Amino acid sequence: MKEIKQINDICDFLRQSQGIDVSTYEDSFLKKTLQNRISTSMCDSMEEYFTFLKQNSTEGNLLIASLQNNYSEFFRNALTFAVLERIVLPYIVKKKKKKEIRIWSAACAQGQEVYSFAMLLEELRGGDDEKFKYRIFATDKCDAQINKAKHGEYPSSALNNINFKRAEKWFTKRNDVFTIKSELKENIDFSIFDLLGKNSGSPSVSIFGDFDIVFCANLLFYFNSKNQKQIVNKISKSISDGGYLITGEAERQILLNLDFSEVFLQSGIFQKKGGTREKDGTRITQILK
Ligand SMILES: C[S@@+](CC[C@H](N)C(=O)[O-])C[C@H]1O[C@@H](n2cnc3c(N)ncnc32)[C@H](O)[C@@H]1O
Repeated sequence: MKEIKQINDICDFLRQSQGIDVSTYEDSFLKKTLQNRISTSMCDSMEEYFTFLKQNSTEGNLLIASLQNNYSEFFRNALTFAVLERIVLPYIVKKKKKKEIRIWSAACAQGQEVYSFAMLLEELRGGDDEKFKYRIFATDKCDAQINKAKHGEYPSSALNNINFKRAEKWFTKRNDVFTIKSELKENIDFSIFDLLGKNSGSPSVSIFGDFDIVFCANLLFYFNSKNQKQIVNKISKSISDGGYLITGEAERQILLNLDFSEVFLQSGIFQKKGGTREKDGTRITQILK
């Protein structure tokens, strides 16, 4: 009880001093992060840490930075990308005919997820831009992340999941820096968007949402259930009928609890139960059988 009160006091303090509400984070994640900061700051207790936090203005920034995880990888969650590449994308391309395929990456970090997906789309086009059209709206709450994503520069260590053929085709190399080629950026719009903000349901550059695919991966598990629900509700409204929500493979249970059905067992690919069927009543899960 005492610890809960101390954590609440820390949340109130950060809300007032930094204007950031850290109570949105999932309880055990918040507690673990605080414990890490307590030991790094060489404090003996939560109480002592709270006093330290109030007296050291930089500690507030460090605590908030440790809560904002922006780790990402190219082709993170291999199964999800394999199902997207081999089943979902070819199906969407066929279904949409020549109509633009619309994708939203709602927490894109430094862009690895967006560029991975753009590589799959370009490979499916096989050099024929007329085969189908697509546009990816890449957003993140953090402007520093969006700037990094726009630049698309990565150290060689970030390319572990990229095979040689893709590295050759989509990157230019200078010393240890690999930069995404401009042709892969042509169909991507980058902008700032806070999924917990009081803004509209989708990035304003996308005008009306209506996405065939929305990525919201490796973000939900940091938030408490109220905020998970708020994010998923916001995103669901922007998904077209028959569209897909892609989450991290470690976050699948959150979507299963929120009335989404998994398109392919163990993948992070979901469709909304009811309301998102194709016009002829089929779902991709039926197509797979
Ligand atoms: C762990 S990264 C995940 C990146 C990528 N989706 C992936 O799966 O590798 C989480 C990202 O979510 C962003 N983020 C955190 N809170 C957000 C919010 N309220 N709205 C939008 N993005 C947010 C962070 O800035 C960070 O870049």
